[in-house]
Amino acid sequence: MGIYSDVILPKLCDLSMRNERLRPYRERVIGAADGRVLEVGSGSGLNLPFYRPAVREVLALEPAPSLLALARRAPRPEIPVSFIEASAEAIPLDDSSVDTVVTTWTLCTIPGASAALAEMRRVLRPEGKLLFVEHGLSPDRGVRWWQDSLTPVWRRISGGCHLNRPIQSMIEGSGFRIDRVETGYMAGPKPMTFMYEGSARPN
Ligand SMILES: C[S@@+](CC[C@H](N)C(=O)[O-])C[C@H]1O[C@@H](n2cnc3c(N)ncnc32)[C@H](O)[C@@H]1O
Repeated sequence: MGIYSDVILPKLCDLSMRNERLRPYRERVIGAADGRVLEVGSGSGLNLPFYRPAVREVLALEPAPSLLALARRAPRPEIPVSFIEASAEAIPLDDSSVDTVVTTWTLCTIPGASAALAEMRRVLRPEGKLLFVEHGLSPDRGVRWWQDSLTPVWRRISGGCHLNRPIQSMIEGSGFRIDRVETGYMAGPKPMTFMYEGSARPN
């Protein structure tokens, strides 16, 4: 709580996530969503313009009220959007009630990421899909050293973001099987830019 976390951090989050280099990832990941979609950690709503007509409804879940306020003013698709103020560790939706769960650069920050993934699996229909793009642990030893070393300080200034989370094994360890994953560095400092993009289904 305080001016940094309540006012400055949400603005910084919004600004940094507007990076144009993230746009192709958003287009691909959000473009693959369909049906009733739960977006976890929807931030300032930057994914909303990328939803296509195959999507019937978007449920944008976000715990930070200041980010939700920005999201409510974001450009929207011609699709019903509901905003849910909640944490992913306790998703206020019924079991097997959504067709697609989306996470974009959110699993790095959620404090209880395993509990959150278990919740995503619970609310997904058995034939549903998890679509994700996340930054995380690099396969390169030197980069991992920097990720492990920087994370304690980085977490404090970035609102809880971990640079070194093993995204693929976290997803696989939470009752999902990966259908497709592509990994690699985006332009920028390597500890912050090793991306995992793909889709997974409930086991
Ligand atoms: C780096 S931002 C990404 C925002 C958005 N997904 C995007 O692509 O622009 C990380 C987001 O995770 C959210 N977050 C943090 N803890 C969370 C939790 N427990 N449950 C759900 N979202 C959470 C933050 O509030 C923030 O919106």
